[in-house]
Amino acid sequence: MRINNTSALVTGGASGLGEATVRALTAKGAVCTIFDRDEPRAKALAEELGGDTGYVAGDVGDEEVVAAAVARAAESGAFRITVNCAGIGWAQRTIGREGEPHDYNAFKTVVNVNLIGTFNVMRLAAGAMARSEPLEDGERGVIVNTASVAAFEGQIGQISYSASKGGIVGMTVPAARDLSPVGIRVNTIAPGLMDTPLLGLLPEEARQALGAGVLFPKRLGYPAEFAQLVCSIAENAYLNGETIRLDGGLRMPPK
Ligand SMILES: NC(=O)c1ccc[n+]([C@@H]2O[C@H](COP(=O)([O-])OP(=O)(O)OC[C@H]3O[C@@H](n4cnc5c(N)ncnc54)[C@H](O)[C@@H]3O)[C@@H](O)[C@H]2O)c1
Repeated sequence: MRINNTSALVTGGASGLGEATVRALTAKGAVCTIFDRDEPRAKALAEELGGDTGYVAGDVGDEEVVAAAVARAAESGAFRITVNCAGIGWAQRTIGREGEPHDYNAFKTVVNVNLIGTFNVMRLAAGAMARSEPLEDGERGVIVNTASVAAFEGQIGQISYSASKGGIVGMTVPAARDLSPVGIRVNTIAPGLMDTPLLGLLPEEARQALGAGVLFPKRLGYPAEFAQLVCSIAENAYLNGETIRLDGGLRMPPK
């Protein structure tokens, strides 16, 4: 698929991997709708990029506001690309040192945002993307979801995050199957350690230590490398139902 002259919806588009994706898709000629709960950042990015770039602020779990973002994407051109980047983390063991159980609500919140939020956006966006004109081979569009290497090697304390990201990996094949009749592909990216505002909060020394643990290249991944993969997935019509690790060969140790 050619990205030029398409309309794209990017959740978590105001920061980190989502922001890099918005920049890359815009540079390739897509009209982006940024969806993020951080309204000031979403607005600032939309204003910086200008043109028809727009934003809708809200939570990925909210049916009404996600539907409004989908409607905005559908009105902005041929709506063919949805990228789910919104996500949150949480670190807590199943039981603590004194045997105290993991906070139940914290677990539910992480699964709600990362997994159920991704599904909410995917189902609403797919409904609208299915109405775009088919391209060659009947292709209508592509959905890219963001998991994590924690879906496969969750570390100590990553139980809720890993569960949410494992669910995203698990949805990839059935979603691709469900959407195949309308020509929408579904793929997932499982990033390793990426240099986003999330890790930017750590001191430089700690970030370098994390980077040194990567097989090669020995550094954190650049958000632009994630965005580059999103574009490749969009452009390569034969890539479907796949989860791709983007991690410099990293395999996370238990802690
Ligand atoms: N940075 C990494 O090393 C890394 C590694 C693996 C996976 N990931 C995943 O990549 C995605 C992007 O992470 P990032 O590092 O760019 O983080 P980030 O914090 O820089 O960006 C996440 C964005 O999502 C938005 N968001 C969070 N919850 C939301 C909600 N409920 N509704 C709407 N918007 C919401 C935030 O406001 C923020 O703008 C996340 O799903 C994360 O789990 C990141």
